[in-house]
Amino acid sequence: MYLSRRRFISTSSKMASSAALGSSFPFYIPARESRTAPSDQVNIGLIGCNNRGFHVLKNHLKVPGVNCVALCDIDQNVLQRRAAEIENDHGHKPSMYEDFRDLLEQKDMDAVIVGTPDHWHCLPMIYACEVGKDVYVEKPLANSIEECNLMVKATRQYKRIVQVGQQQRSSEVWNQVMEFVKSGKLGAVQKVDIWGNFNYGLGPLKQPDAQPPAGVNYDLFLGPARVRPFNPARFHGSWRFFWDYGGGLMTDWGVHLLDMALWAKDLSRPPDKVTAQGYQYDMPDRSRETQDVLTALFSYDDYLIQWEHNAGKQVGPYGRNYGVAFIGEMGTLVADRARWEVLPEWDGDQNRNKIEKVGPVEGKHGHEQHPVNFIECIKSRNEPACPIEVGRAVAVAAHMANIAVRSESYHLEWDEARNKFTNSKSANKMIVPEYRKPWSLPKL
Ligand SMILES: NC(=O)c1ccc[n+]([C@@H]2O[C@H](COP(=O)([O-])OP(=O)(O)OC[C@H]3O[C@@H](n4cnc5c(N)ncnc54)[C@H](O)[C@@H]3O)[C@@H](O)[C@H]2O)c1
Repeated sequence: MYLSRRRFISTSSKMASSAALGSSFPFYIPARESRTAPSDQVNIGLIGCNNRGFHVLKNHLKVPGVNCVALCDIDQNVLQRRAAEIENDHGHKPSMYEDFRDLLEQKDMDAVIVGTPDHWHCLPMIYACEVGKDVYVEKPLANSIEECNLMVKATRQYKRIVQVGQQQRSSEVWNQVMEFVKSGKLGAVQKVDIWGNFNYGLGPLKQPDAQPPAGVNYDLFLGPARVRPFNPARFHGSWRFFWDYGGGLMTDWGVHLLDMALWAKDLSRPPDKVTAQGYQYDMPDRSRETQDVLTALFSYDDYLIQWEHNAGKQVGPYGRNYGVAFIGEMGTLVADRARWEVLPEWDGDQNRNKIEKVGPVEGKHGHEQHPVNFIECIKSRNEPACPIEVGRAVAVAAHMANIAVRSESYHLEWDEARNKFTNSKSANKMIVPEYRKPWSLPKL
């Protein structure tokens, strides 16, 4: 059913706060309805144009037959600049919108890219599904567990192709890594160590509240988030260090790297348990709410995944500031986005390595391949490289760690069938976000 902008508002405000999640999701049901024939052009619209969204759009536009027909941003400065770039590079100016509901009314559009801050992934993605568009939605899938749940439901209910922006799933390096780990050459892998140390994780320098810049619709930037005075430190780029809009390094890099541990075992459900601790350095000149230092241990039955981040640091294990180490009986495979290698275990009886040393092997990142995969899937209606359930599982894992620390529970046990924690009331209160009216969570 097609919903106009006015319908979006009135329907969503009438809806109850949250849909109860069924005991299981309809996994991997191929979407069927498409308005594109395989030979057709694919027309794309972009919502959120400043940084990543535009980068992803440009990679889509390298795919033959893909056109940009519309851009949307709440900041006219960004919108005008990006529209001029498209006109300059591709010879036509896309339609421009301030409000994504208006963009979604454009009929000649097959798919949208959602490149907004995390608190603004859920509604544009679900509304897009509702009006029959396929969606490339950036990671983390959403800024809360319940939004992730609803996005899975919408994808399956409206039979859309949804690619989650975890582009490592399309990368040469990580596909090679998965082939090696799954081949069994490392022996049993029961532990994965993951780390992400980045200077930018300390957040921006403190700045005073101010008037929103000219051309910025600040109310639409906040959307479902609570009202507060405009502050430049909470705006473009650095919103990710404030809970209303993002989840810090844990969700920002966490979803990319934890995803590799899930992929190695083909897991598309969140962990059963998390134990986490985190804190902030005493840095009075910095503005942020998220943790600078966080260590989390995620567990499935016989599989442990350890995450740690140290904001403001760029040194890490194996000489890499971020990476993943798959620890096997026969050796450890260490990887980042650019290269991977295998460090063999020593066999003391035989006086030799248990397996051959491999690498370092270098390869491509996946930034360009992920859009290629999305466009192929729009045409074939096959499941994309990063299906929505995978995006949900890893986003929920990252939120679990943040919630464990924020709720001061520190250890949480997750009941997937009932969509709640079994051991913490305060953590359960953080599953469903409170939306500011007139916005509300869709009822699906
Ligand atoms: N896959 C990756 O490797 C990767 C890398 C960077 C960022 N990201 C993700 O991309 C998303 C955007 O991050 P970013 O760094 O580009 O942020 P950004 O702040 O630079 O850009 C976000 C843009 O969205 C606009 N916006 C905000 N609310 C909007 C709304 N309601 N409608 C339309 N536009 C709106 C902002 O004005 C801004 O132009 C985030 O979810 C982030 O996690 C992914």
